[in-house]
Amino acid sequence: MDTKKMFQEYVLNTYKRVGPVFVKGKGSWLWDETGKKYLDLFPGWGVSILGHAHPRIAEVIAQQAKKLIHLPNNLYQAEQALLAKEIVQSSFPAKVFFANSGAEAVEGAIKLSRLYGRATHRYEIITMRNSFHGRTFGAMSATGQAKYKDPFKPILPSFIEAEFNNFNDLVAKLTEKTIAVLMEPIQGEGGINIASQEYIKEVKEFCERNSLLFIFDEVQTGMGRTGKLFAFQHYGVIPDIMLLSKGLGAGVPISAIVAGPKVYDLISPGMHASTFGGGPLVTKTSLETFKIIKEEKLLKNAERMGKYLTDRLEAFKKKFNFIKEIRSVGLMVGMELTCDSFPVFSAALDKGLIVNSTHQTVLRIMPALNVTRAEIDKGMTILGDVLAGVVAR
Ligand SMILES: Cc1ncc(COP(=O)(O)O)c(C=O)c1O
Repeated sequence: MDTKKMFQEYVLNTYKRVGPVFVKGKGSWLWDETGKKYLDLFPGWGVSILGHAHPRIAEVIAQQAKKLIHLPNNLYQAEQALLAKEIVQSSFPAKVFFANSGAEAVEGAIKLSRLYGRATHRYEIITMRNSFHGRTFGAMSATGQAKYKDPFKPILPSFIEAEFNNFNDLVAKLTEKTIAVLMEPIQGEGGINIASQEYIKEVKEFCERNSLLFIFDEVQTGMGRTGKLFAFQHYGVIPDIMLLSKGLGAGVPISAIVAGPKVYDLISPGMHASTFGGGPLVTKTSLETFKIIKEEKLLKNAERMGKYLTDRLEAFKKKFNFIKEIRSVGLMVGMELTCDSFPVFSAALDKGLIVNSTHQTVLRIMPALNVTRAEIDKGMTILGDVLAGVVAR
């Protein structure tokens, strides 16, 4: 039976799957089962931050798998402690909890917020319109997009939505029950919407004034995606909690709750756990990811290539009047169209280029941090053809 038929028959129908059946990858390239090569400028939806099959990642996984894959969290292993130390030393004073997915990290942050608000009977969390925090019940309820929540109503009640980048609206949403503000500093799935410098500073001060936690969901913006290791570093403010996943393990499932001093002593044994969280295989792989980002100077590359890609897209904007705006920070890039972006994604895939269509009208491009200028050039040649096809349609 062929693969697509098996998907139809045996796999739960939760994804709109497209394209061929892929069999292998290397760097920014993927191959399908017929041997056709694709340029992947959206590897793993931001997960494969070092591209596919990075030789050092493949090697560290192989070596660690021979030593120790998993260990329960009631026993000690060095890898988890070393990764926690690496994350803290490269971000802010904190303690780390490891889980397996972005949504799980969000769930943990919601629980920490509840603990923080317990004494004052506060539990509401202000989240942002068009945000995305995941599909588990708490993370979904925190997500500011009705389409993800409506089929599952009633959702959890303690999330209050504010307009992103609108400080007055945030102030208006404060009640005596508010305990935290949760946001992605750059909304990814919501279409690459960038929080302004002024807004983040105002929100930080607002949180301090009202004893609220400021929680940064950096599941997508973390690990060098924006040209800095973490997006909060663009803003000169330190969050109380930061959430990481996607690129954290360069492909292996891992997430982290980076909990600052306001909350890290509120939790004690038995209050939170994860069977798989922080196992030695994934933590060792994540440690290697940090090393590679440093040694291969990938933050600099993300900044440079992000600028180059943005310039190339700006040139398209001058040529095609259906391109409304280019928004980017580092290699987190969005091109907003005045029309549906899915046909553009689909036509690009047919021509051997993988990008992403999100939020109806936005084409999202998030290449591996080690993408080359030549690869961007190749991608832009294909995208240019596809965009010209939109004009012809
Ligand atoms: C900002 C953000 N938070 C949370 C999530 C959820 O992550 P996961 O799918 O690993 O649960 C995502 C996924 O796209 C995300 O972009």
